[in-house]
Amino acid sequence: MERVCVPRCNFTRIMALLQIVLGIFVILISIASLHRFYSVGYFLHSTDGDSCQKFYTINDGYADFDVKALNDRVEEVLIRLSELQDKLESTIQKMDKESKGRSAAKTIARTEFRMFLEEEVIQPLYSAHVALRLIRIPQPDAVRAPGSPMEDPLINFFTVEETRKYVTGKGNRDGKASVYGANKTYNTIGHACVLMRKELEEYMNYDIGSYCRDDWNLAQKLMLGGCDPLPRRRCLARASRLYQRPLPINESLWTTPDDRNVRWSNYNCRDFKCLSSRNPRRGFSKCTGCFELHKEKLKWVTNTSLADFLIGDVLAVKPGEIRIGLDVSIGTGSFAARMREWNVTIVSTALNVGAPFSETIALRGLIPLYATLNQRLPFFDNTLDLIHTSVFLDGWIDLQLLDFVLFDWDRVLRPGGLLWVDKFFCNRKDLDDYMYMFLQFRYRKHKWVVSFKSKDEVYLSALLEKPPRSL
Ligand SMILES: *[C@@H]1O[C@H](CO)[C@@H](O)[C@H](O)[C@H]1NC(C)=O
Ligand SMILES: *[C@@H]1O[C@H](CO)[C@@H](O)[C@H](O)[C@H]1NC(C)=O
Ligand SMILES: *[C@@H]1O[C@H](CO)[C@@H](O)[C@H](O)[C@H]1NC(C)=O
Ligand SMILES: *[C@@H]1O[C@H](CO)[C@@H](O)[C@H](O)[C@H]1NC(C)=O
Repeated sequence: MERVCVPRCNFTRIMALLQIVLGIFVILISIASLHRFYSVGYFLHSTDGDSCQKFYTINDGYADFDVKALNDRVEEVLIRLSELQDKLESTIQKMDKESKGRSAAKTIARTEFRMFLEEEVIQPLYSAHVALRLIRIPQPDAVRAPGSPMEDPLINFFTVEETRKYVTGKGNRDGKASVYGANKTYNTIGHACVLMRKELEEYMNYDIGSYCRDDWNLAQKLMLGGCDPLPRRRCLARASRLYQRPLPINESLWTTPDDRNVRWSNYNCRDFKCLSSRNPRRGFSKCTGCFELHKEKLKWVTNTSLADFLIGDVLAVKPGEIRIGLDVSIGTGSFAARMREWNVTIVSTALNVGAPFSETIALRGLIPLYATLNQRLPFFDNTLDLIHTSVFLDGWIDLQLLDFVLFDWDRVLRPGGLLWVDKFFCNRKDLDDYMYMFLQFRYRKHKWVVSFKSKDEVYLSALLEKPPRSL
C-alpha cells in the first residue's frame, strides 16, 4: 500500500508548494520591476538632463517611499525563498532516489515532471532570488574617488540594459583593492562590437537566469567579426539532451565520440558519420578528412612527402625539453592526441566553423582553446615549449595580420622553444613574401623544406628554434 501512496502523496505536497511559489511570485514581480527601474536610473544619470535626475538622486526619487520598509520586506522574502528552494531541492532529490527501480512508464512521467519543476519553477525562483539580492541603492556621484576614471561613455552607446550593466565598472565591495590590485573591475568587449551593434544587442537580450537560446553560432559570428572578447552572460548554455559519460582517456583519444554528446542543430550534419570527407555537404572545407580518425592516426608518425616531419624527429631536436605547447590549426585534436602519447601537453585552438571541432577535441580528452585570430593569446611571455601550426595560416592570410600573429607567437614561445610550421602552403609567387615573415625572427633553422604541392602551389615546412633574447 505504502509504495503506491508515496509518489501520489509527494505529488500533492509539491502542488501545495507550487501554490506558495506562485503567491511569492506576485510579490517578486513587483519588486523585480522596481529593481529594473533603479538600474535604468543609475545608468542614465550621467547623460545629464533633469528628466533623469529624479531616478537617481536620493533626496528626490526616494522621498516618496520608505526605504527601510522595502529593505525589511526584501529580507523577509529572501528568507522565505531560501527555505522554499531548499524544500524543492530536497523533494527533487527524494524523487530521484525513489524513481530507481520503478516501472518505465511511471519513471518517464516523473522525469517529465521533474524537468518541469527544474526548468519552470526552481530556475526562475533562483533568478528572482538573485535579482532581489542584487538590488543596490545607487551611489551618488560624490562617492567617486577624485582622479578615478569617469563612467565609460561607451555605456550610453548601448540600449539593452544587460549590455550596459556589463560594461559599467564594478567597484570592489569593501572598497579595497582586489587580488589584482585594482579597486574596480572593467568588463570589456571588443570595440568592433560597435560595428555589430544589432547582433550584439540580440545576443545580450535574454532572460537572466533562464536557458540561453541555442545561439552559439551568433556568438561565433560576433567573435569572427571582431566583437571579441564577448561579454559573459547570465543565462544557462544549452547542452545536448542525453549527454553520455565520456570514454576513459586510453580509449577516447582515437575513438570517434558519441553522437549524443554534441548539439547538432547549427551544423549541416546530424552525426559524426556525416562529417566524412566523402560527403560534399558536410559543411566545412578545411581539413576535409579530419573526422576520420583511422586516417588521422597516420599523421606525424608516417611521412608521405618531404614536407612531413615525424614527431620523433622533431622531439629528438630537444630531448626531454618539450613538455607544453600550442597547436594553432583547424582539426580535431589529432596532433595533441599523438603528442600526449609522447607525454607532451598540447592545447589545440578550435572554432566551430561548420562542424563541432571544439566538442570533438574535448570528447577525445584534449583541450580545445576557443579563440579567434583577432585576439592576443591568453598565455604569458616566454612560457611555451612548442607552437605547431598546420592547415590554418595559408596563402589567404594578409601579410600584416600574419606579422601580428607571429610576433604574438614569438612572445609566448620560451627561449629555446620550437616553432613547427607544418605544410604552410601558398602560391609559388607569394613564397618569398611569406618566407621573409618567418625568417625575420632570426630563429635557428633545424629543418626547412620547400616542396611542390601542385604546379602553382608550394609547401613550406620548417622547424625553428627561438634564440635567447637576453638584453
Ligand atoms: C583605489 O586604489 C588606489 C591605489 O591603487 C587608492 O589610492 C585609492 O584610494 C583607491 N580608491 C578607493 C575608492 O578605494
Ligand atoms: C583502459 O583502461 C581501463 C582501466 O584503466 C581498462 O579497464 C581498459 O581495458 C582500457 N582499455 C583499453 C582499450 O586498453
Ligand atoms: C621520411 O622521413 C625519413 C626520415 O625523416 C626520410 O629519410 C625520408 O626521405 C622521408 N620519406 C619521404 C617520402 O619523404
Ligand atoms: C610517458 O610517461 C610514462 C610515465 O611516466 C612513461 O612510462 C612513458 O615511457 C613515457 N613515454 C614517452 C614516449 O616518453
